[in-house]
Amino acid sequence: MMMVSNFTKLLLISCVLIGAAIMVGAQVIQPVGIQLTPWPEVVGTGPEHSCLALNPHLFTVSSSINSAILNVAIQRYQSTLFFPFGNGTQTPSGAWSLVITVNSGDTSLTLETDESYSLSVKTTNTITLTANTIYGAIRGLETLSQTIQWVQSANTYQICYLPISIIDAPRFPWRGFLIDTGRHYYPADFILHIIDTLGYNKFNVLHWHIVDAQSFGVESNTFPNLTMGAFNPVATYSHAEIQEIVAYAQSYGIRVVPEFDVPAHADAIGTAFPHLIANCPTYADDINSLLLNIANDYTYTFLNGLFTEMASLFPDHYFHTGGDEVHLDCWSEDPTIQAWMKQHKYTTVQAEQYFETQVTDMLLQVNKTKLVWNDPWTNGVKLAEGTVIEVWDNSEITQKIINEGFRALVSFAWYLDEQMPSGVSVGEFENTWQTFYKADPYNGIKKNQQNILGGEACMWSEQVNQMNFDTRVYPRALAAAERLWSPASITDINNAQPRFDQRSCDMKIRGVASSPLQPSFCLLPPNNGMVTKARMGPVHRLTQSEIKAILTA
Ligand SMILES: *[C@@H]1O[C@H](CO)[C@@H](O)[C@H](O)[C@H]1NC(C)=O
Ligand SMILES: *[C@@H]1O[C@H](CO)[C@@H](O)[C@H](O)[C@H]1NC(C)=O
Ligand SMILES: *[C@@H]1O[C@H](CO)[C@@H](O)[C@H](O)[C@H]1NC(C)=O
Repeated sequence: MMMVSNFTKLLLISCVLIGAAIMVGAQVIQPVGIQLTPWPEVVGTGPEHSCLALNPHLFTVSSSINSAILNVAIQRYQSTLFFPFGNGTQTPSGAWSLVITVNSGDTSLTLETDESYSLSVKTTNTITLTANTIYGAIRGLETLSQTIQWVQSANTYQICYLPISIIDAPRFPWRGFLIDTGRHYYPADFILHIIDTLGYNKFNVLHWHIVDAQSFGVESNTFPNLTMGAFNPVATYSHAEIQEIVAYAQSYGIRVVPEFDVPAHADAIGTAFPHLIANCPTYADDINSLLLNIANDYTYTFLNGLFTEMASLFPDHYFHTGGDEVHLDCWSEDPTIQAWMKQHKYTTVQAEQYFETQVTDMLLQVNKTKLVWNDPWTNGVKLAEGTVIEVWDNSEITQKIINEGFRALVSFAWYLDEQMPSGVSVGEFENTWQTFYKADPYNGIKKNQQNILGGEACMWSEQVNQMNFDTRVYPRALAAAERLWSPASITDINNAQPRFDQRSCDMKIRGVASSPLQPSFCLLPPNNGMVTKARMGPVHRLTQSEIKAILTA
């Protein structure tokens, strides 16, 4: 590692540009060349030009345990992710061995799962990857893939900066990403594609905001009529598809937490069950705000049946029931609900309290911990101890929530549907990724930080479907991915920008339609089938005679 101290700023900048690892006083500026994202906790490297060739044919992997999940991950990296440009020119040299040691074969995937790993890439052509769990090993495989470079001129691969030594663990245990299939239906295989992208960036929770006022697209055996509220009969997820999505996510070490948002954002339930929706004319044209009818006993029978069924489909211990944007006056407008509140001597907030308590009890019966948006708390509802509160408002509210002992998730910082940083009203393009990068769950938090579990990047999908998802999300979501994984000290925008731009290219090579951040060139494998297949389907080629006919017409 080249060490520099007290040099001029100019030299410092030029060193960064040539990709050297330099240290100025205590501040470490990461080498741009090694291109790791999210940046690991501890990285030691040799010089930039300390490189060795790597021949895919002579790359062997061995593992201390035989785990079906880890085998899937190894296969995924070995078949395409380590070597996206194919096998290249075969040389007799370049044999490497990857030795994976995992201390426990436990496959359970929870909030407490240890994702730490250490990775050592030695000049003896040996790579050791050591982790306590298979999920830690999976994180290490991703990091390793980022050290392997394609050398276009030699038609082969190499690893540089040898020897490399990485010790890594996430800063936060909850690194979530929200998808919203209530506003646009994403085909199930597109959700698998999204999971790929989350795995590449070490997110570990897929928060699936699966239904909303606009569409109820989940098949239910208990209430088969529910999918009458889907956008279209084909825009529904079968149980088999959900199981595949959950299993696929687990093969990346990603938990799937479903959200069934109630009592607002639930109007699609009313297509099959109109009597479950409150009658409030003020909100007739604002279907997000129509509320469930809390005075109807069947509302609770229904929710209990629905949650019980869905709890078995989604094995994760956490279950999100929304609770956001409850306009309480909707309940006051409905004469039957008004009478019910009067009978119980409930204010509207007490009515909401009653509702939330019922929901908590239903989830307890199926051994789930409830997650809600911060709105019920903000309204003054006393939430059960242990509830996890996802904050979409601001850090002042986060601070108050964690002071009360609740665990919190911060999501307001990373609303990817926002295309302009707040306060900006003009401009051809804006670097929203930088706003996202400067955000931190601890910003504005003075105490009880340990109650913040992490955060979530949210891709609300009013204006997003599978055609523009990738470009909206990437590379901007890298900001959240790095903030939630990397040490708090990794905040340098100038360091992140070239890394993220390179990362965006890496993802493009992997079939993700990620946008660039700056003028650059991204070399893709010839006939990059992954991109065209994932994005556009078959191209309708012209025959030579058709081309000739058109050109001579
Ligand atoms: C690349 O090499 C691997 C390992 O020898 C082999 O399984 C695979 O078929 C090869 N791929 C191509 C495209 O030649
Ligand atoms: C489901 O919908 C059908 C057709 O509208 C109706 O006949 C049936 O009663 C409904 N079932 C329930 C449980 O609501
Ligand atoms: C409830 O869930 C917790 C956490 O997943 C688990 O440890 C416990 O065994 C479960 N209890 C029952 C009765 O299933």
